[in-house]
Amino acid sequence: MSERIFIGVAWPYANGPLHLGHVAGAYLPADIFARYHRIKGDEVLMVSGSDQHGTPITVRAEREGKTPREVADFYHQQFKDSFQGLGISFDLFTNTGTANHAAVVQDFFLNLVNKGFIYKGTMSLPYCPKDQRFLPDRYVEGACPYCGYVNARGDQCDQCGKPLNAVELINPRCAHCKTTPIIRESEHFFLKLSAFQERLLEWVGKQTHWRPNAYNFTMNLLKEGLRDRAITRDIQWGIPIPVAGFEDKRIYVWFDAVIGYLSGSMEWAGSKGTPDKWRDFWQKDTKSYYFIGKDNTAFHTIIWPSMLMGYQGLNLPYDVPANEFLNMEGRHLSTSRNWAVWLPDYLARFDPDPLRYHMSINMPETSDADFSWQEFLRRNNDELVATYGNLVHRVLTFTHKNFEQAVPTPGELDAASNGLLAKARATLQSVDEQLHACHFREAIRSAFALAQEANRYLDAKAPWKMIKTDRAAAGTSLYVAMNVISCLKTVLYPFLPFSSQKLHKLLGYQGEVKDAGWVYRDLPPGQKLAQPEALFIKLDDKIAAEETARLGQ
Ligand code: MF3
Ligand code: ZN
Repeated sequence: MSERIFIGVAWPYANGPLHLGHVAGAYLPADIFARYHRIKGDEVLMVSGSDQHGTPITVRAEREGKTPREVADFYHQQFKDSFQGLGISFDLFTNTGTANHAAVVQDFFLNLVNKGFIYKGTMSLPYCPKDQRFLPDRYVEGACPYCGYVNARGDQCDQCGKPLNAVELINPRCAHCKTTPIIRESEHFFLKLSAFQERLLEWVGKQTHWRPNAYNFTMNLLKEGLRDRAITRDIQWGIPIPVAGFEDKRIYVWFDAVIGYLSGSMEWAGSKGTPDKWRDFWQKDTKSYYFIGKDNTAFHTIIWPSMLMGYQGLNLPYDVPANEFLNMEGRHLSTSRNWAVWLPDYLARFDPDPLRYHMSINMPETSDADFSWQEFLRRNNDELVATYGNLVHRVLTFTHKNFEQAVPTPGELDAASNGLLAKARATLQSVDEQLHACHFREAIRSAFALAQEANRYLDAKAPWKMIKTDRAAAGTSLYVAMNVISCLKTVLYPFLPFSSQKLHKLLGYQGEVKDAGWVYRDLPPGQKLAQPEALFIKLDDKIAAEETARLGQ
C-alpha cells in the first residue's frame, strides 16, 4: 500500500557555507529517506529553505560590512548549488525571505493571538549601554544557568541544548563590545507554552517509535515544566509583527522558521499549479518526518508541535529523527576555527557518491561519529571501489567482451546461484524495513553485505576460467551476478543515486532508475549492455594528508 510522506529538513541559517556536519546531521538522511519512498512509489514532499532572519544573519552582516539581505541571498544561492552537487533532491528549497512566507507567518501569529496562545507582556532584557541597543539572542553571551557552559548564547546553550532566555545568562556580556549589559524593560509577545504542557506530555508519551535520544530529551524538558517564551525581538531584521505599535520589533527567527515547513508546502503546491495540494500533506493521512541535528530538537518536538496544536487542523510530526554530531578528526567541529570540511570545497574536488557512502555508513544516528580523511579514503578505496565498484566492473567488462555485449542466457541454476539470488531478494526486503524505520547505517551495511556475497560467489565460480571449458556455465554465473548487481543498484539508489543511475544505463536500461521501482527483476537475456565504465575511482593516499592540513587554517 502506498504511503504519503512529508519530509521537513532543518532550514540552514544563510550565514555561512554548509559543512559535513550539516550533511550527516540532516540533509543526507532526509534525502535517503525521500529517495527510498519515491522509488517505492510513495507520494513524497520534501521541503526546506534557507533561514534568513535573526541575529545569526545580522551578526555576520555587521562583521562583513554587508546588508543582511546581501548575506542571505549569497548563501541561499550557494546552498542551492551545494545541494544540487550532492544530489539532495528537495521538491522545494526556498527561503524565509519570500512574501508568501511572511504572509503565512503573520496569519499563524494572529491566529494564535486570537486564541490567546500568544499574549503581550513586558520583559526585562539585556541592553548594552555602550552600543545603546537591546541584546537579543546572539548579541549576548554568558554562562548557561543549567550546565555552566561559559559560552552559552542568549537563545540557546550549545552544550546542554536547552533553549534559554537571554536574561537567564550568568555573567552576561555584549557579544559585540563585551560590556556588561544593564536590564531594560521592553514589550513583547509570548508563546504560551505552559498551555500545552499536559497535551504534549500525553502526545510525546505515545511516540515510542522516536529515537531514544529525542524522546528522552523531550520528556525531560516536559517534566521540568515548560515556561512561556518571547517570540518577538528588539531587532529590525525579520518578519514584521502584524500588530500596531510594534513597528520597530520583529518576530523571533525560530517562530518564523518552523512555519517555513507549512509556507514552503504552500509555495510548492502553488508552483505546481495545484494550490490546494499542500493540504494532502498537512490535513490528510500523511506521516511527517523532520530531519534535524540534535541541537534543534526542542524546537521540533516541543515548540513547533505546540504551535500546531494551537493553530489546529494541521498534522503533528510523526517522527523527528534527530542525528547526533559529527566530529572532525577527533575534535568538535567548529566553524569559527575553520575546523570543518565545507561542502562547496568538497564538491569542487571529489564526486558526491563517495561522501554519501562514507556519511551513510558512518552516520551519527545514535551516537556522535567522527569524520577523518584517512577513513574517508580507506572506505572509498577498500569498500566502495574494491567491494562494489570492482564487482560491477569485472562482471560487466568480462560479459561485454565475451558474450556479444549482452546479458547472457542462463542455463540451469545450481544451489549456490539460487542461494545468492535468494539473498538478493532478502536484502531488498531487509533494506526496505531498515530504511522505513530510518535505520540508515544498518541499511547500507545490509546492501554491502550482499555485494560481498556476490564477490565470493564470483570468486568461487571464476567464469574467466570456466569459459575455457564450459561457456554456458560461465554465462550462467555471470547472469546470476548481473542480477545481483541490478538489485544492488536498486537498494543503493537512496544512498548512491549517481552511481545507481549510471549502473542502470550500463545494464542496458533506458530512463531513470527511480522509475524502475523497488523490485527484484531478472534481467532480460539478450539485453544489450552499454560500454562498461568504472563507477568509482580509487583516490591517491596522499589526499588524506593534503586535506587534513587544510583543517584549522
Ligand atoms: N536555522 C536553524 C539552524 O541552522 C534551523 C532552523 S530549522 C527550522 O540551526 F525548523 F526552523 F526550520
Ligand atoms: Zn547549558
